[in-house]
Order: sequence, then C-alpha cells, then structure tokens
Amino acid sequence: MDFTGKVAIVTGGGSGIGRATALKLAGLGATVAIADINEEDGRKVVQEITDLGAKALFVKTDISDFAQTREMAKRVVDTFGRIDVLVNNAAWDKIQPFMENDPALWERLININLKGPIYVTRAVLEYMTKQETGGAIVNVASDAAKVGSTGEAVYSATKGGVYAFTKSIAREMARHKIRVNSICPGPTQTPLFEDVARTMPKVVEAIKKAIPMRRVAKPEEQANAIVWLASEEAGYITGQALSVNGGLNMC
Ligand SMILES: NC(=O)c1ccc[n+]([C@@H]2O[C@H](COP(=O)([O-])OP(=O)(O)OC[C@H]3O[C@@H](n4cnc5c(N)ncnc54)[C@H](O)[C@@H]3O)[C@@H](O)[C@H]2O)c1
Repeated sequence: MDFTGKVAIVTGGGSGIGRATALKLAGLGATVAIADINEEDGRKVVQEITDLGAKALFVKTDISDFAQTREMAKRVVDTFGRIDVLVNNAAWDKIQPFMENDPALWERLININLKGPIYVTRAVLEYMTKQETGGAIVNVASDAAKVGSTGEAVYSATKGGVYAFTKSIAREMARHKIRVNSICPGPTQTPLFEDVARTMPKVVEAIKKAIPMRRVAKPEEQANAIVWLASEEAGYITGQALSVNGGLNMC
C-alpha cells in the first residue's frame, strides 16, 4: 500500500485506534491531519508523525459542532491543498444499563457518535467531490451496530446509524469516485476499553472467553483494516462493513 502524495484526516487521531491509524497512514507516505477535541493527545501524535519524517497537522475540533468541522476541513485544504482520505473514528461511550440512562447521556452519545461523522463527512465531501481523483472514507462503527451490546443501547443505536449512513453515502458518492466503507471493531485494547476493564473486570474476562481467538484486538489490528479499506488495494469495495473481532460475531 502506498499513500505517497495523499492527504488524510483522522478524527479522534489522538488516542487508541485513531492514533494507530494516523501513524500507519503516515508510515505509508500520507500527510495526516489529526482532528481531535483533546489538544494534548492530538499534538503528541502530530509530533510522533513528524518524527517519522512525514507531514502532519493538528486541528482542535469538536466533531459534534458542524461549524468546527467545516473550519477543520477548510484548514486542511488551505494547508495541504486536498483531502484524499477521511477516517471518521472519534466517538465516546459510557456503559450503563438503559433504564439508568438519562436523556443528557443519549444527547451526548448521539451528538458525538452519529451527528459527528455526519458533520465531518459533509464538511469533507464539499472538497472531495470536486476532486477528479475522488477519495475514500472509512467510518469506524462497531460490532454493536450488528448485534447490539448490553449496557450500550444508545451507543449501539448511534453505531447502527453510522453503519446505515455509510451504505447510503457509498451509493451517492460512487459517481464521484469516492468509496465509503465502515469497520466494525470488536473489543480493542484502547483507553476507551481500559476504562471498562477498570470498572468491570469480570465482564472483560467473560468477553475474552467468548472470543474464538481468546484475546481482544490491538489498535494496530483495527488500523490495518481501516488503512487497507482506504487504499487502492480495496479499489472495488464500497458500502461494506468489515468486522475486525477475532471471530466474536460472525455476521
Ligand atoms: N475500543 C473498543 O473496544 C471499540 C470497540 C468498537 C468500536 N470502537 C470504536 O473505535 C473508535 C475509536 O475508539 P477508541 O477505543 O480508540 O477510543 P479512545 O477513547 O481511545 O479514542 C477516542 C478519541 O476520540 C476523541 N474524541 C472524543 N470525542 C470527540 C469529539 N467530540 N470531537 C473530536 N474528538 C473526540 C478523543 O479525544 C480520543 O482521542 C470509536 O469510534 C469507538 O466507538 C472501539
């Protein structure tokens, strides 16, 4: 895979799966913009990328604010001239039984996890659709979109939304030579997952036993799938949802 001359945006690139994806893209020659709400983490990853000898930019962005996503896309184009790859990775979660949720939690989950990727996609497509060479979008959904998840009812609903949004945008964008796919990670060793492990260690042990491969994923294993879907090697693949889950759910 070769991303030389390509410009990629990774939302939530400051941590976990987003960080691993940004580093992999940069290692394959891409110029990478990190759009994250967490400035300290985002700037650290930009430093890691520039240490590799690649070009990178941090743009502080709250993806749940449409105006900020538009400013972010404009800044990337003003700086690097184009956008070839978008990875909609940023999301947030809190595990809690549905009957203990309050509406403020639902609002937060929907605003970040569903409206966020919608806003960033629209902001980026304003530029990508005008490029003759098209581009690729990879949305990070979740296996929860396909099979649900106890304690994550509204999170799962937002990821189901991302799953369906991906397919619809893939249909609309094919004529612009833009491919749109999603990955559906299973449990992955990231700060998001480590929070769960701290509060519910027994649940994590049960999850590991249920996974045919008997371990959770490394962030780099999710990044490998994301980057491959964004690459020209996946040039005839669009509208798909690839589970990366050690066999936990085979659907
Ligand atoms: N870790 C898992 O087990 C797992 C499983 C399935 C799906 N996923 C999905 O993978 C993706 C990455 O998760 P992760 O585990 O690497 O999480 P993480 O918490 O390690 O990283 C998420 C990043 O998103 C950023 N972010 C959060 N809210 C934001 C906002 N409003 N605007 C901009 N940036 C924001 C955070 O600052 C952070 O850098 C998410 O979409 C998540 O739902 C993760």
